[in-house]
Amino acid sequence: MDKGRPILLSIILLLSSALLVVRCQSDVTSLRQDAVALYYARVSNLTRIFSHEMSSQANRCIVDPKTDFNMAFNYSSNLEFLATCMESQGDVSLRLCTAAEIKLYLNNVFKKANSGSISSLISNRNCNFSTWLPGCEPGWACEIDPTVNVDLQNSEKIPSRTVSCQACCEGFFCPQGLTCMMPCPLGAYCPRAVLNRTTSICEPYQYQPPVGHPNHTCGGANIWADVDSSEEIFCAEGSYCPTTVDKEPCGSGYMDFFLP
Ligand SMILES: *[C@@H]1O[C@H](CO)[C@@H](O)[C@H](O)[C@H]1NC(C)=O
Ligand SMILES: *[C@@H]1O[C@H](CO)[C@@H](O)[C@H](O)[C@H]1NC(C)=O
Ligand SMILES: *[C@@H]1O[C@H](CO)[C@@H](O)[C@H](O)[C@H]1NC(C)=O
Ligand SMILES: *[C@@H]1O[C@H](CO)[C@@H](O)[C@H](O)[C@H]1NC(C)=O
Ligand SMILES: *[C@@H]1O[C@H](CO)[C@@H](O)[C@H](O)[C@H]1NC(C)=O
Repeated sequence: MDKGRPILLSIILLLSSALLVVRCQSDVTSLRQDAVALYYARVSNLTRIFSHEMSSQANRCIVDPKTDFNMAFNYSSNLEFLATCMESQGDVSLRLCTAAEIKLYLNNVFKKANSGSISSLISNRNCNFSTWLPGCEPGWACEIDPTVNVDLQNSEKIPSRTVSCQACCEGFFCPQGLTCMMPCPLGAYCPRAVLNRTTSICEPYQYQPPVGHPNHTCGGANIWADVDSSEEIFCAEGSYCPTTVDKEPCGSGYMDFFLP
């Protein structure tokens, strides 16, 4: 009879700790949702800047920038990629490109598209002949010093972005020569790259990890718009990417509406 008590007690303890766990989980979940919402607001600001820059540089290609960009960048139905990125890298906004970085990137993309020449590197304060951080490599990015207040909308001055360099998150792309991340448009497929040991290529992209830096792994996507150099970044023909980190077999429609 006496034996029953400790068992009952443990059951009660177990139950109450289970309740505690449930409670903590829902707290964490709502905190997480708040944080995701905040970052999504920042990402939306970023894609608005992108949209603005893009339509001013690519006016001949984009018929209806507002609709196109809403279709390309309205991630509101699935923010899982953002939550996953936050979990591995913390304050994602320190890694998001500012207007100045986006402008530099798009200038380069359109210059290249117009001249048909091979990619020239984008020289800037973070990545140039005298300084080349790990985040300058394709598929990698760094953080802005968190004590510095950065204006995302500043389109003239590129911020110093040199700390905590890491591989680009899934669902984002990190071009060579810039140390920041941009979200991949919907319809693009931007998983983490995997090293093919035979070819030393970071697949499904076409870049190589830097020679002589064994600790530098393949990162994330390095491109989105200049598909000439890697067609894989868009969903393969006959598949449909409901988010930028999933690939589902399906019809077309999402393939290339967004190509410049
Ligand atoms: C988004 O941009 C607006 C100005 O265009 C600014 O007022 C707002 O604070 C920004 N939101 C975030 C979350 O950065
Ligand atoms: C994004 O899509 C959601 C529904 O899918 C819609 O409610 C929202 O207004 C859209 N956002 C913008 C900026 O158009
Ligand atoms: C190259 O990088 C260094 C270090 O950040 C910087 O001081 C210098 O201004 C950069 N040069 C150019 C041409 O951007
Ligand atoms: C690596 O690349 C080679 C040559 O393109 C290919 O045959 C092979 O299947 C790739 N390996 C993996 C693991 O994908
Ligand atoms: C590479 O990583 C190992 C283990 O983390 C470390 O001991 C080594 O110093 C690193 N090498 C370089 C060149 O950073």
